[in-house]
Amino acid sequence: MDRNLALNMVRVTEAAALASAKFLGRGDKEAADQAAVDGMRKMFDTLNIDGTVVIGEGEIDEAPMLYIGERIGRSGASLKVDIAVDPVDGTTAVAKGLANAIAVVAIAPEGCLLHAPDMYMNKIAVGPEAKGCVDLDKSIEENLYSVAKALGKDITELTVTILDRERHIDMISKIRAVGARIKLFNDGDVATAIATCIPESGIDVMLGIGGAPEGVIAAAALKCMGGDFLGKLMPHSEVESERCKKMGIEDIDKVLTMEDLVKGKEVFFAATGISNGDILKGVSYLAGNKAKTHSMVTRAETGTVRFVEAMHKLDEKPEYAY
Ligand code: FBP
Repeated sequence: MDRNLALNMVRVTEAAALASAKFLGRGDKEAADQAAVDGMRKMFDTLNIDGTVVIGEGEIDEAPMLYIGERIGRSGASLKVDIAVDPVDGTTAVAKGLANAIAVVAIAPEGCLLHAPDMYMNKIAVGPEAKGCVDLDKSIEENLYSVAKALGKDITELTVTILDRERHIDMISKIRAVGARIKLFNDGDVATAIATCIPESGIDVMLGIGGAPEGVIAAAALKCMGGDFLGKLMPHSEVESERCKKMGIEDIDKVLTMEDLVKGKEVFFAATGISNGDILKGVSYLAGNKAKTHSMVTRAETGTVRFVEAMHKLDEKPEYAY
């Protein structure tokens, strides 16, 4: 895949973020998401790819744009790719004006991204120094001691981040019992998984149960950044179990490795902050009809992570309207 695709992917996430950030704190998560979808979808047309959305806004009958199976890109393009999108990871965060909402896109050659069903997934993410040290079949305590050892830290110096949800009460008491530090977060477990690969974030481990589609997107990012990500699907009904099987996941109890989630090395990932977070600042609107965005883009083949700060002129026909 052409490495310059990376910069064009930033344009796509910027377009989503610029459109969605206008809805910060306005209490309307649907509108925030719709604006991001519209912005992202239009910008996708400028990419020289023949892509299929494998992780998107839902099935064709639920979402008019960026639905699973939608063909994206330019007709005649020869590069066949899988596309995973989340125009807003953290719709509630945008609606409430809270942290960690980002717009994200991952692209890999056709057949390389797991078509994860829309259900929960138990996840664990760590940065490069702790790669290979975690296993979802092991207890939380074992995993945390193992990561602390790999990082050369005392367990009391380890920082774990986990979604602030009732379903995590047991996990949180186990983390506290071993003496590790905890940073609870409200939304956006793609951003917090990525934070494990950015030492300045101060986050060593992200764990807990969140969305499976977000799990694949986070795995793509961590593959590019040299971290580790494991997931276990958590179907809560026969219907959900059947859905896993239909999508080719026979053994639902299997721990999905990074390679199961995202195959190979030709993976690209881009994200733009919508609201301020641990890894990216949100969109700021400036005097003179301008806006500033903060994005990151990375690809697995080189592992280079670029942070892109961009100033946009919001004229009558902003870039995201093309
Ligand atoms: P949405 O943007 O779809 O609301 O997802 C936000 C999110 O926090 C994800 O990052 C996370 O995986 C999932 O929701 C957790 O689900 P729940 O809010 O049901 O606990």
